[in-house]
Amino acid sequence: MTHSKRRSAMRMRNQEYRPTLPGCGPTRRSTLAGGTLGGAAVTGAAVAGAALLLAFTPVQGQEVTYAADIAPIFNEKCVECHRPGSIAPMSLLTYEQARQYSSRIKFRVENRIMPPWGLNPHSGIQDYKNDRDLTEAERQTIVAWVDDGSPSGDVNDTPPASVFPEGDFFWYLGDDLGEPDLVVEGPTVTRSAAGPDEWNDVTVPTGITEERWIRAVEIRPSNERSRTVIHHALASLVQDESGVTGVPDAVSDQVRGRGLLQNYAAGAGGHVFKPDAGKLIMPGAAINWEVHTTAKGIDVEDASITMGLWFHDSPPKYRTILTTYTPRNANGQLDIPPGQIAVHQGTWVMPGPVRLESFQPHMHMRGKAMMTEAIYRDGRREVLTFVDNFQWDFQTTYIFEDEVAPLLPEGTVIVVTSWHDNTAENPNNPDANQWIGWGARKVDEMSIAWFNITYLDQEYFEQLVAEREGRPAVDDRD
Ligand code: HEC
Repeated sequence: MTHSKRRSAMRMRNQEYRPTLPGCGPTRRSTLAGGTLGGAAVTGAAVAGAALLLAFTPVQGQEVTYAADIAPIFNEKCVECHRPGSIAPMSLLTYEQARQYSSRIKFRVENRIMPPWGLNPHSGIQDYKNDRDLTEAERQTIVAWVDDGSPSGDVNDTPPASVFPEGDFFWYLGDDLGEPDLVVEGPTVTRSAAGPDEWNDVTVPTGITEERWIRAVEIRPSNERSRTVIHHALASLVQDESGVTGVPDAVSDQVRGRGLLQNYAAGAGGHVFKPDAGKLIMPGAAINWEVHTTAKGIDVEDASITMGLWFHDSPPKYRTILTTYTPRNANGQLDIPPGQIAVHQGTWVMPGPVRLESFQPHMHMRGKAMMTEAIYRDGRREVLTFVDNFQWDFQTTYIFEDEVAPLLPEGTVIVVTSWHDNTAENPNNPDANQWIGWGARKVDEMSIAWFNITYLDQEYFEQLVAEREGRPAVDDRD
């Protein structure tokens, strides 16, 4: 999609916004607007959106049909997951399938549960490389089609179904980058059809003998049965590295760790780093895998996961490091009382100029929302990202478009706020009577914002800012 098209799509989307919550029904639509998050701006937007809705009909005076209107949307926004062999329970490749599920489709689409994409469309940065959200026009077209009785239209108008690479396994990045330079197999684990979640922690050598800079990385379960039972997987670099090489001297003692290399969760694609940056992998490096499986009613003897790495031809100047920020309370705890919505907040000061490349909010079943703000040294405060529709089953990484990836000067304070909903109102809450703290099980909680951060030197930072016509920040929305 071109930039201008994306912009106009954004404007369309902004015509109506129904704040909603993970997995919830229409009766709870107003919860957020009612100020559970204490957000006056959110409330205002919701009210304005409701007014605009009255003036907006998707395809005026025309019948909305599957062939002409719906199939193109499903091809672009749904069938990647809703086709045989992918992660969703049913396929949406044909009219018959779409019609059979039409009322559920309406419910999920209208309530922003499908496609899974948690960002508030009014607050914070809106342009992401992996944006899979529907535009507001698309959303309303789907609703209108179901309301009209899901007509098929002229079958001759149906566009050809999306074509996917042959076979059970392919790399999403393969289209653009070809085969990876190195494939690192993860562990093979067994998963029983029933029982609690399991975590497998295994370290596997990479066979790397010389320093390499990673240009792109993608993790995928190795086959269809693995895609069914592997809920998520984390790949961390284990390598002998004193300090943190590849970051400017001024910050090298302040940058924490080499961090996670990449994570996989249902629906994740790959990540291509910018030409001027990458991840450093050292000779002798190993990958520590944490593979989380859930019971799905089938015994799988050989659930496995694999990672593709594409390397830069020559070392880039800057290093991108996956950094975790973990908002907690004043005692350093995650403290979620029964029956309450708990708020935790933390602040982190940027040790030098940085560019943020991507972020991922990580919480579990009670996760509700997460916001990141920047406070600049001149006192300006700006919302960078606001996920107000967190769906814990899809741990989405949001990859900023190049022209909006936040450029933050040294000394900028990043504020991360997380919300957990431990009330009985939260349909994902297994037990609203429990007092919840930090833990790996999905019934415990986490409160993590993962940011891929590239540490820049001052001169290059100023050059990048100048290239954006003097905008140190990101807010050029009209
Ligand atoms: C990133 C992958 C992904 C995308 C994109 C996606 N879905 Fe889904 N969808 C899923 C998964 C996984 C499930 C099953 C888990 C759940 O119910 O949340 C699901 C469930 C559903 C369900 C509920 C099915 C049932 O049995 O009740 C509907 C309806 C649905 N999706 C419609 C859509 C539509 C329409 C689109 C496109 C506008 C879409 N989805 C895009 C992954 C996806």
